[in-house]
Amino acid sequence: MLLTIEGLTKRYGTGDAALNGVDLAIPAGEVVGLIGPSGAGKSTLIRCINRLVEPTAGRVFLAGDEVTGRRDLRFMRRRMGMIFQEFALVERLTVMENVLSGRLGYVPYWRSLLRRYPAADVQRAFATLDRVGLLDHVDKRADALSGGQRQRVGIARALLQQPDILLVDEPTASLDPKTSRQIMRLICEVCAERSLAAVVNMHDVALAQMFLSRIVGLRQGRVVYDGPSNGLTPEVLTVIYGEEDWTRSAQRDDDVADEDVHGARPHGREPLAAVG
Ligand SMILES: Nc1ncnc2c1ncn2[C@@H]1O[C@H](COP(=O)(O)OP(=O)(O)OP(=O)(O)O)[C@@H](O)[C@H]1O
Ligand SMILES: [Mg+2]
Repeated sequence: MLLTIEGLTKRYGTGDAALNGVDLAIPAGEVVGLIGPSGAGKSTLIRCINRLVEPTAGRVFLAGDEVTGRRDLRFMRRRMGMIFQEFALVERLTVMENVLSGRLGYVPYWRSLLRRYPAADVQRAFATLDRVGLLDHVDKRADALSGGQRQRVGIARALLQQPDILLVDEPTASLDPKTSRQIMRLICEVCAERSLAAVVNMHDVALAQMFLSRIVGLRQGRVVYDGPSNGLTPEVLTVIYGEEDWTRSAQRDDDVADEDVHGARPHGREPLAAVG
């Protein structure tokens, strides 16, 4: 197994368990979608894997090496590439500089201060920017890019780490539907090309089903579904998201305006009777 999670539990200072004994195993090269209602613990799970958030209990192993309880985090973290919803780019730096920062786990500290990277890293950055379709934008500042382009920078930066796994937190949440599909396709393609595993936390069930074959459903900090994406029946979705009239949702999608039918966003939706 590439990633093994055993009994992972996280209690924030405020009390309730955000994660409650999560077990998960992901083989090399598998891309898994993580779904669940707001507050289910998706971001917490992704962040506990690389210990951006310190778990309260439980263990995480990457290719047999324990991640939890060890001190040399730099070495473990560079094997896990993070991609964020909000892109987390340095706005005033160029695309190239942002992507090269993916090498920070490798270059000596003094070099990173001067932002002097080995020629091989620069070569690799060019090749990666070419792969994600940004070769024409290497010298642009990050704040001059569109949302989709910014997420491509985020993907390139994570890839430059040469990780074993990508941890992806809502990569398409601030993108339009078409760009969302392009970004999901890119993530899946680069994972396949490089035999990278990934955990992709998503709100859009339809988008997750379109691209991913295995889905993990989280509810109140527990795994309540782990199986094929075509097994997400209305009954299973009710277990994950709670009560919702899924059949009526589908009907309604036929005769409402476009902006309401973007994927399935079950949580936070108004009861149907209250609409219109
Ligand atoms: N830094 C924090 N301090 C205290 N509680 C937190 C913190 N971060 C998250 N929580 C709580 O932990 C629970 C899980 O939050 P988390 O952000 O992991 O959920 P999520 O599934 O990612 O939700 P969303 O879909 O809204 O992003 C929630 O109850 C949340 O309020
Ligand atoms: Mg979240």
